[in-house]
Amino acid sequence: MDSRRSHIRLDSRVERILRSAGKLNVRLGIGYESSLAAAERRDIVVAIDVLRCSSSIVTALANGAKAVIPAVSLREARLLSRVHSGILAGERKGMRQKGFELGNSPLEFTREKVKGRTVVLTTTSGTKAIVLGKKARGVLVGSLLNLNATARLAGKLAKSSKSGISLITAGTSGRFSLEDFLCAGALSDLFAREGDMLDDGCIAAAHAYRRVQADICSAVREGFHARYLKSISLIDDVTFSTQVNLFDIAAVLKADRIVAVKP
Ligand code: MLT
Repeated sequence: MDSRRSHIRLDSRVERILRSAGKLNVRLGIGYESSLAAAERRDIVVAIDVLRCSSSIVTALANGAKAVIPAVSLREARLLSRVHSGILAGERKGMRQKGFELGNSPLEFTREKVKGRTVVLTTTSGTKAIVLGKKARGVLVGSLLNLNATARLAGKLAKSSKSGISLITAGTSGRFSLEDFLCAGALSDLFAREGDMLDDGCIAAAHAYRRVQADICSAVREGFHARYLKSISLIDDVTFSTQVNLFDIAAVLKADRIVAVKP
């Protein structure tokens, strides 16, 4: 037997043993496209886009939005907002688009603006990670703002459905992104404490997170996307989005909309 096949067999044996002991199998996906493979595996997908899609969605829900509907294109978002009488929100190149009521800054999704309303959101990468995962066993929107709630619910759903968890780092316009990797690391760190099985990507992310966890904001500010947001006067979004566990809600995709769930 060739060595690759024997590795795969060993891996799935270890996975079976750990699963029967109630332990989870957690993988890292780089780039929003990796949501698709995770959905095909019927994993629980955690879509992570710290700057700023995930943070905006979680903030909108924490401030009482009824739901957030993710849209892939500007056109689709315009259409959906008309159909659902929703607030039209989103960005391209980080900036609010013509005719849109809100951009993609979590600070814009205030209680006054969103309470009781449906938001239709389109962003460059984050909403794609969510929509591409829609055939998965479950899709959660993960951020630093709702870290513990996300880990709790993802763990619960994966255990009850006997599936794995995929932490999908959406990235920035096709680039690897530091802040999403660190957030995946923070989640991986929580799963590791439960004795769950992390793949090498998650182990690397957990090591990186542990190195910077005392000041995650400064670490994120070094990254490309934070520097870009600073250049367009949106650095406050970085400070806000790097707060850990500000909200105790999970954000879950149900049919076409994301709603708040208390895990
Ligand atoms: C994205 O989806 O690529 C982002 O959320 C970009 C941003 O608005 O900063």
